[in-house]
Amino acid sequence: MHIQTISGSLRESLRIETRELHAELESRMALLDRPLTPQGYIDVLLQLHNALSSMVEAWHRSEVEIPWSPDFSDRLRWLEADLRELGQKPAGNTTAWKGPSDSLGWWGSFYVYEGSSLGGQFIARALHDSFPNSLNYFSGYGAATGIRWRNFLMEMENNVRPSEYKDVVAGARLSFQLFLDQAEGKKRAS
Ligand code: HEM
Repeated sequence: MHIQTISGSLRESLRIETRELHAELESRMALLDRPLTPQGYIDVLLQLHNALSSMVEAWHRSEVEIPWSPDFSDRLRWLEADLRELGQKPAGNTTAWKGPSDSLGWWGSFYVYEGSSLGGQFIARALHDSFPNSLNYFSGYGAATGIRWRNFLMEMENNVRPSEYKDVVAGARLSFQLFLDQAEGKKRAS
């Protein structure tokens, strides 16, 4: 698989090679393009909870060693608080997602996990009037989001050689597919 690199950064390769998957996920979640019903919002939060729980379980099952790993607990806790606020218990139907088989693949998964907080600020602002009390997940780390993202990118870039980019991209695509498969169940009739 030929990996297009601009300015040689791994992040640029990841952004280019996953751009379509990100756009497909945005359109399936359809969070911003119409008035969102409470049930519509609950469905999206349940999809995210299922996908995130599956990723966490796969990471805990894997024996891969990486000198850095995300703190998954915050975002699952925020999702559960938002679902409770909307009168819903997380379904907990995690899929037996295998996840990447090596550390390079997991750097790709962590890119998707950490990167997914970037759009959150945007989404929290857009949904504030409709769901003011259940935006913990999308508000996320708030003002600290940018610095967390830059710290993650530095860790990732310092631990991966250019010849290994394709394996990180493969892990990121596999992880986007996990979220797409969860969103698939809820593709809304337009
Ligand atoms: C409707 C839902 C979503 C919207 C509106 C959205 C929007 C955004 C925005 C505005 C950015 C920042 C782009 C930039 O700084 O150039 C971003 C980045 C990103 N998002 Fe999303 N996002 C959504 C859902 C998701 C989901 C569910 C995931 C993963 C599970 C995800 C993964 C990422 C990643 C990995 C990046 C970083 C891309 C980069 O390298 O700059 N996004 N998103």
